[in-house]
Parts: sequence; structure tokens; C-alpha cells
Amino acid sequence: MCETGVLGLTISLLLCLRKTGLFVICVLTSSRSCVTTPLIFPMSKPKRIKFVYASDNHGDKVDKKAAEALFAFCKDFKPDVRIHGGDCFDIRPYRKSADAEEKNQSLKDDIKWGKWFIQNYKPTVMLMGNHEYRLYEGVENNIGRKQELIQELLDDIKSCLRANGCKKIIPYHADKGVYSLGKVRACHGYKCGKNAVEEHAIHYADRGGAVIIGHIHSMQMVTAQRWGGCVGFTGGCLCLKDEMSYAQNRFATSKWATGWLYGYIEGNNWKIWQAHKVGKKWIYSHTDI
Ligand SMILES: [Fe+2]
Ligand SMILES: [Fe+2]
Repeated sequence: MCETGVLGLTISLLLCLRKTGLFVICVLTSSRSCVTTPLIFPMSKPKRIKFVYASDNHGDKVDKKAAEALFAFCKDFKPDVRIHGGDCFDIRPYRKSADAEEKNQSLKDDIKWGKWFIQNYKPTVMLMGNHEYRLYEGVENNIGRKQELIQELLDDIKSCLRANGCKKIIPYHADKGVYSLGKVRACHGYKCGKNAVEEHAIHYADRGGAVIIGHIHSMQMVTAQRWGGCVGFTGGCLCLKDEMSYAQNRFATSKWATGWLYGYIEGNNWKIWQAHKVGKKWIYSHTDI
């Protein structure tokens, strides 16, 4: 028996939110019977948000079969968030070291196929890449009619994105060019080289989080050396290497792979997979999560 000196029932509720936030524990205390009854009610589970990250289709250099495999995958997977990780367009004539032939190339097909990709993938988030950034530089560095034409191209790309459901257009910017979804951060990528994935993870990730990049066109998962841990991912590209003249004389391009990333977040938890072409088949699973 409890000696509380108070008649009736005293109910004390202890809200004990465990670190996971999953439980509310109510303790009922009777002044007469001293019965302490823990009742555990599960709180609502954090919502599972599914996402896809696809990048580097490079306008008219797109690998159409790979892009179609991505579109079919999205129909099954039904992502809540579709991230385009940048380099949707190639914009070769404005490459800094473009030769005379490249400088005179038309952008018509590049824009047409980049828009085809947007119309089918329907990104809800667009992270501009260094190739789109060439247009921003073009606007900055030109005047008169040429400046107007480049601005019109950029406006046309942005209105195509908005017309196809894009809610966020994020600039190519090492500080501002990052999209966060729970503990997963995504950007286009601001460094190349052997350690690029780990360096991006160390720079951008939260403790226990993940970072996704495109840009380097390879497929990697790297657990980074950092207190609390974090992981970097890159999911390959969706362009045809053989069509890209600048890629032909570099060792690094032998690491290029074709694919994309997908996964989910649930509160502070996350999981990321790579969709990868093996032989003639696309390997991915977990479309039923
Ligand atoms: Fe790229
Ligand atoms: Fe890039």
C-alpha cells in the first residue's frame, strides 16, 4: 500500500521519450493500491520518404537505353523525391577549353535531349551541375544579343523544369548547392580525383549521415574517416562515354559506370542502393519498400 494521504486516484504520467522517439510510457499510480502500471504506446513512426538520385545524362550524349531503364524503375519504385544531380545538359560550346569546332556547335540537340530527360524523369529537385553553370557564366561574361540568347536558354530550361513538377532549382555553388533530406545530403560534386567521394562525405555529411554526388561518373560507396562516421555515394552517369571526345584520352574515365542511386530516409535512418547495369541487365531490387 502507498501512504499518500490523498484519497482517490493519483495519476502521474511520465512521458519518457526514448532517444529514438518511438515510445510514450505512461505510469499509473494509485494512492490506495500502489500499482504502477507501465503502458507503452508506440508514437507515430517517422514517415518513410523514398528518393531517386540520377545525374550526368549530358544532353544529346544521353544513354537512351539507360535513361529509359531509369524511367521504368521510377514507375515501379514511385519515389517521393526525384533528385536530378546535375549535368542534364552538356553545353559544349561554352566549355573553357573548347576548340574552334566545339565553339561553333549548335546547342539545339543538346537542349532537346536534356529537356526530353526532364520531361520523362520529372525531377522534383534540380541540382545544377558544372555543365549548366557554363550558361550562368555565359550570361555573366557576355553582353548584348549573345547575353540575351544565353539567358533565354537558361530561362527555357528552368521553365521546362517547373512545368514538369520541379519544386527546387539549386545553383551550382559549393556552399549553397546542397539539398538535404533527413541525414542524406545531395550535391552535384565540386571535386574530382581518387578521394572525391570521401572528401565530399567529410565536408558535407552529418554525423552518421550520407552524401550523394554525381560529377565523377563512377560508382562508389566510401565509408569516410570521420568522428561519428558518414558515408559517401556516387551512382555513375547516364551518358555515352564513347560519344564524348574529351573523355577518350584520360585514364580516369575508365572508372565511369552507368547507373543511378535510390533509397529512403525514415527519421534519422537512411538506406541507399545503387542501380547498376550488369551485362545487358539492370540490377536493382527493393522496389517494394
Ligand atoms: Fe557529368
Ligand atoms: Fe559535372
